[in-house]
Amino acid sequence: MVPTHVLEGWILWAFAAFLVYLFLFSLVWGAGYYPTSRRQLAAAAALLQLEDGDTVYDLGSGFGGALIFFAKERRVQAVGAEVDPLRRAVSLWKIRRHGLSSRVTVLRKNLLDVDLRGSEKVFFFLSPLLMRKLQEKVGKEMPAGSLVVSVDHRFPDWKPKESRENVHLYVVGADARVRA
Ligand SMILES: C[S@@+](CC[C@H](N)C(=O)[O-])C[C@H]1O[C@@H](n2cnc3c(N)ncnc32)[C@H](O)[C@@H]1O
Repeated sequence: MVPTHVLEGWILWAFAAFLVYLFLFSLVWGAGYYPTSRRQLAAAAALLQLEDGDTVYDLGSGFGGALIFFAKERRVQAVGAEVDPLRRAVSLWKIRRHGLSSRVTVLRKNLLDVDLRGSEKVFFFLSPLLMRKLQEKVGKEMPAGSLVVSVDHRFPDWKPKESRENVHLYVVGADARVRA
């Protein structure tokens, strides 16, 4: 029989290890985990002008909170890309629980490998480390006039068209390529 204080110690260690995993695993890929607030999600949905029939991408979709918010509040199709298999599995479970499996999918993928050539509305909340690579990728792959919103972090060389709640909107095209 394991004494209670030893068991409590194990549980605390397991919990601490889980928190470290949550933060560090995806940091290796460029961004750790912190969910976007509902207020910022509402700002992002408005800036992206999401409406029925649209498809929105969330690059680094975490536990699926943003995907579920957009699909429920704006009735759009939502595609996530998440590198962490655990977060992807939890998000798929949540999506099923909300009855959104026909409208929301999550790719198990490095977001830098997602083909954005057919995407016109993209959302992300990542880290400053990824912003230059993403700026190049978005500029190369997304059609002119496409909308991109980034929570908290700005592209290094592009000027946002508008910012609300620290959510920054970029319109892909020549006009966006102006140093901020
Ligand atoms: C700050 S969280 C944002 C989660 C969610 N998009 C939201 O707004 O609530 C960033 C997420 O991006 C994921 N991530 C980081 N680097 C990635 C990469 N290179 N490819 C795919 N996912 C990545 C992390 O695992 C984490 O879940």
